[in-house]
Formats: sequence, C-alpha cells, structure tokens
Amino acid sequence: MRVAMIGAGYVGLVSGACFADFGHVVTCIDKDAGKIERLHQGIMPIYEPGLDRLVADNVAQGRLFFSTDAAEAVRGADAVFIAVGTPSRRGDGHADLSYVYAAAEEIAGLMDGFTVIVTKSTVPVGTGDEIEAIMAKARPDGQFAVVSNPEFLREGAAIEDFKRPDRVVVGTNDERAKEVMRELYRPLYLNETPILFTERRTSELIKYAANAFLAMKITFINEMADLSEAVGADVQQVARGIGLDKRIGGKFLNAGPGYGGSCFPKDTLALVRTAEQAGAPTRLIEATVAVNDARKKAMAEKIKAAMGGDLKGKTVGVLGLTFKPNTDDMRDAPSLDIIPALIAGGATVQGYDPEDHEARKLLDGVAFKSGPYDVAEGADALVIVTEWDQFRALDLVRVKDLMRSPVLVDLRNIYKPDAMAKLGFRYHSIGRAPA
Ligand SMILES: NC(=O)c1ccc[n+]([C@@H]2O[C@H](COP(=O)([O-])OP(=O)(O)OC[C@H]3O[C@@H](n4cnc5c(N)ncnc54)[C@H](O)[C@@H]3O)[C@@H](O)[C@H]2O)c1
Repeated sequence: MRVAMIGAGYVGLVSGACFADFGHVVTCIDKDAGKIERLHQGIMPIYEPGLDRLVADNVAQGRLFFSTDAAEAVRGADAVFIAVGTPSRRGDGHADLSYVYAAAEEIAGLMDGFTVIVTKSTVPVGTGDEIEAIMAKARPDGQFAVVSNPEFLREGAAIEDFKRPDRVVVGTNDERAKEVMRELYRPLYLNETPILFTERRTSELIKYAANAFLAMKITFINEMADLSEAVGADVQQVARGIGLDKRIGGKFLNAGPGYGGSCFPKDTLALVRTAEQAGAPTRLIEATVAVNDARKKAMAEKIKAAMGGDLKGKTVGVLGLTFKPNTDDMRDAPSLDIIPALIAGGATVQGYDPEDHEARKLLDGVAFKSGPYDVAEGADALVIVTEWDQFRALDLVRVKDLMRSPVLVDLRNIYKPDAMAKLGFRYHSIGRAPA
C-alpha cells in the first residue's frame, strides 16, 4: 500500500516509520521545513527510543520518504493519514481543529482516484463528519472515504506500542475503506491483535474515553496518596492491594505530582467541553481536571514545606524535567508548574534532564546542569520530578555529600523511606510516611 502521512510529529513519524517497516511505502509530510530537512539528514526531530534506527533502516530500504510537499504522495496514495496536532484551543479548552481542517482541504485538492482519509489525530466526536463535508464540498467528483483510526501509543515506548498494540480501532462503515485498513494492519492480524471495526463517531469517542479513564485512574490514586499521608497509610501498598484485583488492574496506579503530557490534559478538557455541548456532562472528568490542576500547583508547596517553609535564598536541584521518562516532550509537564513557583518563592533552581533541549526553551531562570551530581551540588533540597532510569541508582552517599542540606523530595516514589533515613536524608515522598 502507498501511504501519505500528514504531520511528522510524535505520532506521524512513529506511525509512518512503523507502517514502512510493515512493508508499505510511506511518505511523511510536514510543513515544518526544518523538521523535514533534519529527517533528510538522518537527524530525528524528536527523542523516541529506537526511532533513529527504524527510520534509517526503512529509508535505506526505499520505503520511507519525507517531504514538505504533499502533492505527489497524496496523489498516489491508497490512504492519507492526518496526524497533525489538536491542541487545546486558547480560552475555552475545546480541541483546536484548525490544523486538521487545513490538512483536509489540502488533501481534497490533491487526491486522485479512490482515497481513504484516515484521522489519526485525536479529534472530538463529529470531526470525521466535518472532514467528509469539507472534502465533498471541495471535490464533488471525489472518490473517498473518511475513517477514524485513533492512536494509542505512549511516548517513550511508541514503536513497541504501535507494533504490538492492545488493540486497533477503526471507525468506518465503508467496505472499501475497511479493506484498505485491513491491508495496512495485516501484520497485526497475524499477531492476533484485536482489531475493532466500529462506527466513526464511536471510534472518535473511544479515544477520549480511554484517555479520560486513564487520567481518572491516576487522579484517583493521587487522592488516595493524600489520604494515605493524612491517616498514616502507604499508598504504594494501597495501589498494590487494589491493583491485584483484576477488575482494577495494577497499571496507572503510581501516585505522583499529577499527570501532564501531550494528551491527557488537553483530551480530558476537550471531552468535558464536548460533553457539556452535548448536554451530557461528565462530572467525573470535570473533577479529574480540577483535581489534577490543583495537584500540580500544590507540589511546589510540598517542596517548600519539606524545606522548612521558606524558599528565599535556598537552592533547589530538580532531577527530570520532561513530562515522563524517555521522551523530550515538555507539553504540560509538571515541572512547568513546579519550577516557576519555586523561583517565584525566592529559590534558585538548578535542573538536569537527559533530554533537556525542549526544557531549555521553556524554563526561564533555571541553571541547566550536565548531570545529577552537578544538580545536587550546593542544593538545599533535591527534587525528583521525572523518574528517568538513571535517577534510580544514584550514588546517594555522594549526592548527600554534595548537598548543602540532605533534603530529598521524591515525587515519583522511586526510593524507599527507611533506606533514605538510614543514609541520613530527610526524605519526603508521595503518600508514604517519612521513615
Ligand atoms: N503524542 C502522543 O503521545 C499522542 C498519542 C496518541 C495520539 N496523539 C494525537 O496525535 C495528534 C498528533 O500529536 P503529536 O504529538 O504527534 O503532535 P506534534 O505536534 O508532535 O506533530 C504534529 C505535526 O504536524 C505538523 N503539521 C501541522 N499541520 C500540518 C499540515 N497541514 N501539513 C503538514 N504537517 C502539518 C506540525 O508541523 C507537526 O510537526 C494529536 O491529535 C494528538 O492528540 C498523540
């Protein structure tokens, strides 16, 4: 099959490279000329483990191409994927669909012969209908079908998730489109991956429902963490105790500083807005959004309290700035709430992240260091905000010796309170009593 992928970001580039690896011929198109130029030079515009190798292999095999110009790829494509951004619209929290609709207009002007337009971007219910209307208006003669195929990959494990997903969801009633989608995902059929064919609107809602549920699960355990702290329980044991129940499941029960990232914050908000508009409000998700926003803001207070209630003249070392490990993505990262609040409170902040190039653009006033020990040096407190593997096995004796005072605030619960106490740290974590 010949595939055109509009948008070569986290989703478009990974999906495009994986489809090429399945054996299809894929052109990833992006209007960001710098991104395409870097891809032509073999430089990845994002950090995603294994992506450089996958891209290089498929380019070498003549199956993966990059361009700023959609014309040739769209004309020859069996399927054109829309994988552009759908950020929160400023002011009202609805999904901003302007990039999606612009892409649809462009595709309409270029497509030739029967073409399946596949929306991989996360879009509110009814967007497929709107895309169909745009296409039909621009090309009354056009032979096309608009399909919803939401993406569930996680940054940091994106290739594995794309190639071995829990399921693939395809929303269409068009038989020809179903055939094209089956052919595109054929390697997954062989793996016996469940492929759920459904109505387009249902498919669109599945994506939001999945993200909202996961965001709610994280928020639930975060509330249990606060309660654990208040009553002297251990949230990690609570999570294990409930997670072993198969009806609940153990994943997404790690208490922390509140969810961030490129999807949960904007998608929960967009779902709330869709539901309000439809006259079927989602109170649970409204509460999830509010609780999570408050939590991210409260983390700076927690750090301040751990440091004796005053940040003035103090130095805080921050380990991990991205919204989660193994990505360079900073969208809605908790660090973006925590660090400015620490600085506003009078602290000096020094930080380190293994992939800090985006963080450097977004975090003013932070002294960026080249490793965890540089961050510990002279610090009055060290805060673990993102649990990169390299922070799990620090030489803590060395860390403590480098610090001005041994306060460790572990917002990801990667260390054990009793072990930290033995080393002489004043250790604070999430939802567990200090040793
Ligand atoms: N990032 C994730 O983990 C993830 C997971 C599942 C779903 N999604 C969804 O996938 C979509 C894309 O997310 P992302 O993180 O890849 O975004 P991104 O910002 O990394 O990438 C979007 C890309 O599209 C390009 N673009 C925009 N309009 C274009 C056009 N008309 N023609 C060509 N290129 C265009 C941009 O330049 C950008 O490179 C969003 O709807 C998101 O919600 C993201």
